Amino acid sequence: MQDFTDKVAVITGGASGIGLAVAEQLAAAGARLVLADIERGALDARVAEFVARGTPCVGRITDVADRAQVQALADHAWDHFGQVDVVMNNAGVAVFGPTQEMTHDDWKWTVDVNLWGCIHGVECFVPRMIEQGAGGHVLFTASFAGLVANRELGPYNVTKAAVVALAESLRKDVREHGIGVSVLCPMRVSSNIDFSARNRPDALGGPTANRTYTDEERAALDGRLLDVAPVAGLVLDAIRDNQLYIHTHREARAYFDKRAERISAAFERAL
Ligand SMILES: NC(=O)c1ccc[n+]([C@@H]2O[C@H](COP(=O)([O-])OP(=O)(O)OC[C@H]3O[C@@H](n4cnc5c(N)ncnc54)[C@H](O)[C@@H]3O)[C@@H](O)[C@H]2O)c1
Repeated sequence: MQDFTDKVAVITGGASGIGLAVAEQLAAAGARLVLADIERGALDARVAEFVARGTPCVGRITDVADRAQVQALADHAWDHFGQVDVVMNNAGVAVFGPTQEMTHDDWKWTVDVNLWGCIHGVECFVPRMIEQGAGGHVLFTASFAGLVANRELGPYNVTKAAVVALAESLRKDVREHGIGVSVLCPMRVSSNIDFSARNRPDALGGPTANRTYTDEERAALDGRLLDVAPVAGLVLDAIRDNQLYIHTHREARAYFDKRAERISAAFERAL
């Protein structure tokens, strides 16, 4: 997809961070927006800003963990704009701490939002995009944690690895329909992800159920802290060129290579 003029882009988790930055750059390139988020105040404010700047934009409160709400989001997008060209499955949350100390609710919340949210996006949008017959692009926000597991992020690593696999699987299966697929795999990007417990439902422990990083722990994390804008620029490039993997941090490559070498070396012992 080379031209975003009048294209319709649906972005989950679009009221903050990476999703919002991608929305801003798509809007600047002429696209129309459907922003979905679980946080009403932030969503209403961002939609009002886009509309004030002349971008056709609607918002829809959506918990991506709930398939019916993602279906309602898809219906809303098609009802309002009559087409959907880009879907960015971006909403995500993180719970920090040793894997062995994660509660069942920690696992459930993370898997429901990060993995089921993306699966719901595929179920509710992709068949309809195929039926629409105009191609398009599906994006997933995974993480570098989906390629190399981070310490103290067990459920997050698991869901992000699965999202990478989902993107790789979907890409092979929708190619013949002219639909591109990309997966974004950032290390640290400046956003509100460290405060994701703000959106944790009471039924799964509520906003105070998990701790976040201390300032010292955050400072000790590998990789630079990038701004969202250049990351969003890479996302638009990937849509234009239909690139599968979107890497953001050059320094991440050494960690990936080390993992790949270790997996490859283990074949020496294979039968
Ligand atoms: N910031 C980073 O360092 C980083 C690194 C790698 C991957 N990611 C991924 O980027 C994506 C976007 O996160 P971000 O960093 O911009 O954080 P963010 O918290 O700024 O934005 C995430 C948005 O998702 C929304 N959201 C949370 N739960 C939701 C739900 N159940 N349904 C719908 N919306 C929901 C939030 O309200 C928020 O607006 C996530 O998938 C995250 O895992 C972030």
